Amino acid sequence: MSADAVDNSKRRFLVSATTVVGAVGAGFVAVPFVKSWNPSARALAAGAPVLADISKLEEGQMITVEWRGKPVYVLKRTDDNMKDLASDVDMLADINSDMSKQPEYCKNVGRSYDKHTKVSVMEGVCTHLGCAPKYVPDLNNPYAGALGSDWKGGFFCPCHGSIYDLSGRVYKSMPAPTNLPVPPHVFKSDTVILIGQDGSNA
Ligand code: FES
Repeated sequence: MSADAVDNSKRRFLVSATTVVGAVGAGFVAVPFVKSWNPSARALAAGAPVLADISKLEEGQMITVEWRGKPVYVLKRTDDNMKDLASDVDMLADINSDMSKQPEYCKNVGRSYDKHTKVSVMEGVCTHLGCAPKYVPDLNNPYAGALGSDWKGGFFCPCHGSIYDLSGRVYKSMPAPTNLPVPPHVFKSDTVILIGQDGSNA
């Protein structure tokens, strides 16, 4: 099977719905969240920007929206997460995202807007062969065995084991060569993000 075939089959399975995943309760929680404010199927196929409502997104939770046929993760991190992201960097392959894809306004530790630093928007597409990495907020999950006992949260790709931190920065010596891409996006308000279009409210 080609890399593209792997890529597309994973995406079809994993992007079938908009979901919220969080650290609340035991293990993984998947709850239908935003029905959709999004454009028609025709416009979506053409790559139109999509809106994400994060008004109900709590710290530690993540929603997934679909843009251009890809899953896009919108994650709200905690204050502790932000401290860890700034200090736990020795294991990262591209600490400053110099080799990775993101808009200039997100080239920082959080890979996010300064005004909304806790909210990260990143493509849920592993930079190895395109599987969708799993959000792993803590060790109370099926992938704990692949992560260290000092795990501070991040993403784990179940296809070949690539590990990313909560900013989508890949660990060293992983199959994935670069960090998860950050798509263009702009905050229309404190609770609504337009994904797929650049903005100027950094
Ligand atoms: S596709 Fe993610 S590690 Fe290979």
